[in-house]
Amino acid sequence: MDEPQNEGRRDFLKKACAVCIGGATMVPPIGAGVAVLLDPLRRKSAQGEFVQVGFVSALPENGAPRKFNVLTTREDAWNKMKNVPVGAVYVRRTGPQTVQALNVVCPHAGCFVDYVQERNSYLCPCHNSTFALDGRINDPKSPAARGMDELETQIRNGNEVWVKFQNFRAGEAAKLPA
Ligand code: FES
Repeated sequence: MDEPQNEGRRDFLKKACAVCIGGATMVPPIGAGVAVLLDPLRRKSAQGEFVQVGFVSALPENGAPRKFNVLTTREDAWNKMKNVPVGAVYVRRTGPQTVQALNVVCPHAGCFVDYVQERNSYLCPCHNSTFALDGRINDPKSPAARGMDELETQIRNGNEVWVKFQNFRAGEAAKLPA
């Protein structure tokens, strides 16, 4: 007696399932398409990559630091831009073939730290954090919770200074990648 009604219900369920399955199979391709479209926008800098910043021969013999801009090539699906500034570092000689590099960004709140030649140390102009030449906090009253962020370095081909550039989160005692 109610056969046509059941038939109709079955038909409806079949169509509903088809719509659900069809919709579900569309999600991954759409997601992948959006990711591909947005991926170039997410590639912003040389974080964590070695970048050549200068030459050992350009560093003062007395161990005073010299500031270098960190320039990199930004490449995405649409553009390739050379020499894009992504930060800056202080580099100083620590031996005949060794150097130390510090990120210029203050670990307190992100201002740029100055090298003060008369004191042979660093001073942040924003809230007066002071740092020794090796980047350590040299005044207990400094508001920075950690010293300046040291970066890994390499000397390549006898004279090129390469720095593994990375920014770190400000305001934290731990050195955490930004
Ligand atoms: S940002 Fe450097 S001391 Fe505050």
